[in-house]
Amino acid sequence: MPIYVNDKAKEFHLQGKSYSYIFKVMKNNQLGQLYYGKKIKHRPSFDHLYEPRFRCDTVNTFPDDTAFSLGTLMQEYPAYGTGDFRYPAYEVKQKNGSRISDFQYQSYQIIKGKPKLEGLPATYTESDDEAVTLDILLTDKLLNMDLHLVYTVFEDDDAFTRNVRFVNHGEEAVDLPVALSASVDFPDHRFVMMQLSGSWARERHLYERALQPGVQSISSTRTASSPQQNPFLALRRPDATESSGVVYGFSFVYSGSFLAQVEVDDYGVSRVTMGINPFDFNWHLSPGDTFQTPEVVLVFSDQGLTGMSQTYQTLYRRRLASGKWRDRVRPILINNWEATYFDFNEEKLVTIAKEAKKLGIELFVLDDGWFGKRDSDTTSLGDWFVDERKLPNGLSGLSKKIRSLGLDFGLWFEPEMISKESRLYRQHPDWVIHVPDRRMSPGRNQYILDFSREEVVDYLYERIASAIEEGNLSYIKWDMNRHMTEIFSAVRPAEQQQETGHRYILGVYRLYEKLTTNYPDVLFESCSSGGGRFDPGLLYYAPQAWTSDDTDAVERLKIQYGTSFVYPVSSMGAHVSAVPNHQVSRTTPLQTRAAVAYFGAFGYELDVTKMSDEEKQIVKQQIAFYKANRQLVQYGDFYRIDSPYKNGGNVTSWIVVSPDRKQALAARYQVLAEPNPPYARFHFKGLDPDTLYKLDGSDRTFYGDELMHAGLLLDDLVPQGIQSKQSLDFSAQLFKLTAVND
Ligand code: DGJ
Repeated sequence: MPIYVNDKAKEFHLQGKSYSYIFKVMKNNQLGQLYYGKKIKHRPSFDHLYEPRFRCDTVNTFPDDTAFSLGTLMQEYPAYGTGDFRYPAYEVKQKNGSRISDFQYQSYQIIKGKPKLEGLPATYTESDDEAVTLDILLTDKLLNMDLHLVYTVFEDDDAFTRNVRFVNHGEEAVDLPVALSASVDFPDHRFVMMQLSGSWARERHLYERALQPGVQSISSTRTASSPQQNPFLALRRPDATESSGVVYGFSFVYSGSFLAQVEVDDYGVSRVTMGINPFDFNWHLSPGDTFQTPEVVLVFSDQGLTGMSQTYQTLYRRRLASGKWRDRVRPILINNWEATYFDFNEEKLVTIAKEAKKLGIELFVLDDGWFGKRDSDTTSLGDWFVDERKLPNGLSGLSKKIRSLGLDFGLWFEPEMISKESRLYRQHPDWVIHVPDRRMSPGRNQYILDFSREEVVDYLYERIASAIEEGNLSYIKWDMNRHMTEIFSAVRPAEQQQETGHRYILGVYRLYEKLTTNYPDVLFESCSSGGGRFDPGLLYYAPQAWTSDDTDAVERLKIQYGTSFVYPVSSMGAHVSAVPNHQVSRTTPLQTRAAVAYFGAFGYELDVTKMSDEEKQIVKQQIAFYKANRQLVQYGDFYRIDSPYKNGGNVTSWIVVSPDRKQALAARYQVLAEPNPPYARFHFKGLDPDTLYKLDGSDRTFYGDELMHAGLLLDDLVPQGIQSKQSLDFSAQLFKLTAVND
């Protein structure tokens, strides 16, 4: 069993496959941390790891014990105000204005499996023997409030989750201005902090910095996880590499404003906290009510960054993504956005679909512009009724035509948004998030619907459900193209206004939940101006996300490489688009564009009717290739090899290996050709050293150990420099390996 309890010593030991996480009940009946790191043997007491020591400049809990200070002890879920001057994990504001609480340990419960989180997406188990959950109850007697600290340890993954539940049994309401989901104190700060940051069109780039005394944090205040910062951070030991060394990952299963912070104190202790961003947040907890935080997924790896990423990728693919599409290979789609933008009619769409079908594409996705009078991005959001000027036969007419070609049909929505120029706005101006009598700030000419209100979510459900039925939809792209400002809900009292952001996200989850439950065959792809809400929360409902609006093959290397630190290949929507590229105007070869997009949920986003016959022939081959390899790509183990963030970033490479290690597909991308280049070898990863592999497209065979250690001589396969007739700018090479049957 992965959870040990030393009842006498009041200690808890969560023991995963390769880590131990140990904490105890301290003298003040609150919880203190003892250890988080590589797995150690269990023993009847770990008290020797507990370190109450006298330090200057501290405040003590007990008058006769100068060694016990909350300011220097490592804590499990710290509060502010009684000796710890570091940032706290929570705060309870009371009627008299006090913010002091004292949650004392009462009892614990061990539960098989993993209980669901009310209203929130979370990792889950399919059978009770996959995980064990520890629920620790702490009580503040004065407030008559309970605090549950909940931990789930997965049997097969080096991951555990944490979440917190506040229950107000008292007679007075309290406020929770801070209610984070997890806090971990490490005894030192010899770490490099890693984060995935960026902006529109350059999401999830990798950044690193050595920890310094003080606070270093990433966060979102946008009521969206955001393209600026992903809800993830990792601490790696300075000597950790891709394949070795210790790394701690923290990933937040949430799609709204978040905080991920590391505070290094004056004794070098590093406190990692993660949760809903306290900035502009307050939860008014009425008597009898419960507040449930989202969960944090903590991953330990002593196998470097690959170990951490593979744990996240596998767990998120198998036990976070949910529904029928979780384990299914994803259809190859064509999306009309970059082909037509708003300028289309039924005939044009059907012509594209016909050509797409001939190439082997399986799903036709109609993007923005099919509803209301949406000829530009200035109108009609909210009016989810088909535009009969463009589609005179309605959704059903178009869908029938598409389906009769042998393609599935999918549709774009932006459910959370409203245009001022819309019927919905005229009918329900109060449904918009705004402050009465104040200016409303537009973003992409649009405003945000108040998803914290049930009737708003219900209206959207009715509209989307009827489109699903009318259009016989098998796919929905759920977009979201602006961030929230002037946050205020017309239906909430003053003391609850700062709940609006979180309640909004709960509304988004409620709509997803209802749609995915009632239409389980529909594949959902989340999107937010590209990859602006690529987070674990939405992955629960939508097993794939549009990775970025930036489809340039070169830019995508950084984006997909960064995304792979947490998210599985199957979750990354990746399309081949036209050149010059619409985001960066770069022209890259069709082969390279596909070679990058293969490592994702593959599709096309261009006007296939405008391609030359030669290009169509190439696309046909690409589609056949992807079909033959998509099970491997989407459900294999992913290893990063060459980083676009290192050595000038000219070469990026990676590989996916099937779980039985009998097949692998590797790719090596080179941004610019090098004059008189040095000898180059390609070192594979993840292969079985004793298996003999055949390199596709040649009759050559190699053992896995040779390919991994000696490497493959690239000059043999691709002439470099002056010997090459083809430009090696923006080039890609694919290496498919198949085990030779003995
Ligand atoms: C932003 C998305 O990222 C694009 O793919 C496209 O769907 C547009 N919105 C449509 O407005």
